[in-house]
Amino acid sequence: MNYRHSYHAGNFADVFKHTQLVLLLQCLYGKESPFCYLDTHAGAGRYDLHGTSAQKTGEYLQGVMRLRARDDVPAVLADYLDAVYALNPGADDLRYYPGSPCIAHHLLRPQDRMVLMEMHPDDAVLLKREFRGDKRVHVHHTDGYQGLKAFVPPIEKRGLVLIDPPFEGGNEFECLVENLHIAYQRWRTGIFAVWYPLKDDIRVQHFHRQLMASGMRKLLRVELCLHARPPVNTLYGCGMIIINPPWQYDQKLQALLPQLLASLQPDGEGSTRVEWLVPE
Ligand SMILES: C[S@@+](CC[C@H](N)C(=O)[O-])C[C@H]1O[C@@H](n2cnc3c(N)ncnc32)[C@H](O)[C@@H]1O
Repeated sequence: MNYRHSYHAGNFADVFKHTQLVLLLQCLYGKESPFCYLDTHAGAGRYDLHGTSAQKTGEYLQGVMRLRARDDVPAVLADYLDAVYALNPGADDLRYYPGSPCIAHHLLRPQDRMVLMEMHPDDAVLLKREFRGDKRVHVHHTDGYQGLKAFVPPIEKRGLVLIDPPFEGGNEFECLVENLHIAYQRWRTGIFAVWYPLKDDIRVQHFHRQLMASGMRKLLRVELCLHARPPVNTLYGCGMIIINPPWQYDQKLQALLPQLLASLQPDGEGSTRVEWLVPE
């Protein structure tokens, strides 16, 4: 396990993923009944942007810092930034960046619950420390796909699963589809949000074909590309597959993504996409 998210925290991919996380959780607020948030690859929870890893890459400067520089962001992006500021109370500078568990925790209501899975021993310790004493949060030092199969459907029968693997191994896409399919069969009404890199188009096309052939329904494809002509073998964008997205989620994203792109890519390059891979 070589991947460490501390090098990438707050980059454009995190901003893309975490704004959607905020929007999806806000959609779950529509009902008073409790929901469960499950995070299969949770990471460390929070990241020190002044730390050696973040300073080495400086990726956050092209991500969250670009958004922060704007003073006219739409409501969802402002809510996302509020979650970021919540980790930096009273500070002018942005020192800590919240990973998906801290973003979700910021939006959790007293009746809701979160289940976090993380395989890296150091990050699992940090995660347990971050949420110690909060009975709504359950942290498991385990493989995210095994945990996924063990924890769905949650007792609340309502909620969201974030699947955000590091894509280190050559078979991550295949592993993902296989385990996602099993989880979906156990919980057909759950919302599943799956992040993936745009780097190797052949692999991504194969991933989409596998999803379309899987029998799963209501699959929304959401993508953000930073470059019109991406350099070979570089992360030029990223995507999310949302299974069972909330009502009108696609329309909300159609409006939001161009604004997000304009913040993240000041050169005016790039593109966004929101389309049904498999409709209802
Ligand atoms: C992309 S990062 C997650 C970032 C986090 N979801 C966020 O948005 O802040 C991927 C994480 O998965 C962890 N990981 C790698 N393989 C795993 C596995 N099989 N099960 C659970 N976690 C794993 C890595 O240690 C890393 O922390």
